[in-house]
Amino acid sequence: MRVAGALRVPGDKSISHRALMLGALGTGPSRVRGILQSLDVHSTAGVLRALGVAVPALGEEIVIDGVGLRGLRAGAADLECGNSGTTTRLLAGIVAGSALSGRFVGDASLSRRPMGRIARPLAAMGARFEFGRSGDGLPMTVHGGPLRGLTWHMETASAQVKSAILLAGLVGDVPAEVHEVERTRDHTERMLVGRGVDLRVEGNAVTLVPAARLDAADQLVPGDPSSAAFFAALAAIADDGELALHDVCINPTRAGAFEVLRRMGAQVRYQDARVEGGEEVATVVVSPGMLRGAVIEGRDVPSLVDELPVLACVAACATGETRVTGAAELRVKESDRIKAIVNNLRAVGAEAEELPDGFVVRGTGRRPFAGAVATHADHRIAMAFGVLGVVPGSAITVDDPACAAVSFPTFWKELSRVVV
Ligand code: S3P
Repeated sequence: MRVAGALRVPGDKSISHRALMLGALGTGPSRVRGILQSLDVHSTAGVLRALGVAVPALGEEIVIDGVGLRGLRAGAADLECGNSGTTTRLLAGIVAGSALSGRFVGDASLSRRPMGRIARPLAAMGARFEFGRSGDGLPMTVHGGPLRGLTWHMETASAQVKSAILLAGLVGDVPAEVHEVERTRDHTERMLVGRGVDLRVEGNAVTLVPAARLDAADQLVPGDPSSAAFFAALAAIADDGELALHDVCINPTRAGAFEVLRRMGAQVRYQDARVEGGEEVATVVVSPGMLRGAVIEGRDVPSLVDELPVLACVAACATGETRVTGAAELRVKESDRIKAIVNNLRAVGAEAEELPDGFVVRGTGRRPFAGAVATHADHRIAMAFGVLGVVPGSAITVDDPACAAVSFPTFWKELSRVVV
């Protein structure tokens, strides 16, 4: 298989959610360029509209008229979050800091995901939570109210939980201090500083000082490294050729998959590295190499947590064992990704085994692969096995390819374009 060409993957999902939320909370108009137009980001736009913000239809360039830190209004409608954990958890923080209540609902996958992890710190700040029969899943009603400051020691590495606490402190006008287990993606911190907030990062601790207002700011959204990773993986397992992925965010808290592909033997170069929109950005150029297994441990996981499905597929094409540990968080993503990765690798003829907090893939360098993949409506499982499916001679069927639209609506079109 030969790959060739260049592509610009869609805008970063994490930054797109935050650009909408912080635009909404800003004082005056904020321009956003290159926002990801995917189902998850539409969910954030929809919830903000339900809270009284005039978010325009998403497009290449949009302007959001911010309502200010205290300008959100409660409507009668449920807050529909679809499949999006980031929408739910960050906006729960925002509602917790506001003088209003909101009932968060979502699809079957999101409804099963744990919300206790945000409810505990936000309740300690003074917000109230009501859960249905599901325990700590959706539907979840958040009653915001006068908050008190919080110092919180995180139980798991989660940028969503960290961001929920910081946003609650910002909107609720109280100090917030979060101590992380491992440094997770820091877009919220960068974007708050860029909007005039006094926020300090020291080691694994982030401290937010209350702010009277949030400045409006223009945001350029770089390409999503989590989407780019599928094409980097494709180039790594190809027999020949090269792919150039333009304008990819290579923020060190996000770029772990590129490092691992390099460790596994692929050629990965950053060209034209620069800072744009407050983020490190580069053209990531990837070509194949003799692939060998890799060890991925807990401290590596936050910077590649969403890329583990596709790295597992690369591991199946490599020679030797790939062992991933310290990744129990995978069990509470859009699906139980440890089970989904291992069961689907086995279903297509690869050797893999579950660990409580990760998995092992025994690569034989043998290919192609054939079998039926069950995505469990998980976009990253669908795309990871889509990459494996283009290995010549493979016969992989993916039960729900359309679920890629959660984060990467043009994935299948781009995939067929770059394989020559
Ligand atoms: C995200 C944080 C991560 C990641 C998710 C997006 C974010 O989740 O998996 O896709 O935008 O903050 P956790 O906070 O649960 O680790």
